[in-house]
Amino acid sequence: MSYRPQDGFFRKAKREGYRSRAAYKLLEISQRFRLIRAGQVVVDLGAAPGGWLQVAAELAGPRGRVLGFDLQPIQPLSGKHVNAFELDVLAPEAAERIRALAEGAVDCVLSDMAPRLSGIRDADHQRALELTRGAFDIARVVLNPRGVFLFKTFTGVDLEALLKEMTGRFQTVQRVRSAATRKGSSEIYVVAKGFKAGR
Ligand SMILES: C[S@@+](CC[C@H](N)C(=O)[O-])C[C@H]1O[C@@H](n2cnc3c(N)ncnc32)[C@H](O)[C@@H]1O
Repeated sequence: MSYRPQDGFFRKAKREGYRSRAAYKLLEISQRFRLIRAGQVVVDLGAAPGGWLQVAAELAGPRGRVLGFDLQPIQPLSGKHVNAFELDVLAPEAAERIRALAEGAVDCVLSDMAPRLSGIRDADHQRALELTRGAFDIARVVLNPRGVFLFKTFTGVDLEALLKEMTGRFQTVQRVRSAATRKGSSEIYVVAKGFKAGR
């Protein structure tokens, strides 16, 4: 597969002031599944450089609140209702820190986290699953009953077991491919709706 960093979505993001081409993935999936609504509290895991944060902030609006977390620093965003923090989402204290910063339950947890790729497919798959599991652990602690969890992961043998586990905790779990995902990528998104709290 040839790698073309400056594709149509990249140029569109530059033109429209989004920090990443990934912004269009969240726009598309959120519209299709009616995920983020005005006034909601949204947590974005693996948020740098901030494209998803920009979209989530637009959709949640000034009555909502958006909190982004990443290993890397994120340049401040416009809007008092959106804030970014440096955090390793896999750290043992991460869920409690996020819950404290959110000051209450969260309507929507997003994760676009991705590991640094080694090029070794199985190893990369395992590291991506570790991030997915870390995001799921956080979603279980911070989500409102009936809350939504959207995450990126990569296809591979161990994904099925994790998705099966999730179906016990959400009313629906659906896989999605975004139009902005590059051809040949093993990336998929999963939309889990209707969190069943207290299990
Ligand atoms: C594809 S980028 C996210 C792009 C973002 N959604 C956007 O639209 O700008 C993946 C991010 O996951 C972050 N990440 C990977 N492992 C992480 C971890 N353990 N804790 C927090 N962030 C992590 C990386 O630092 C990277 O910034």
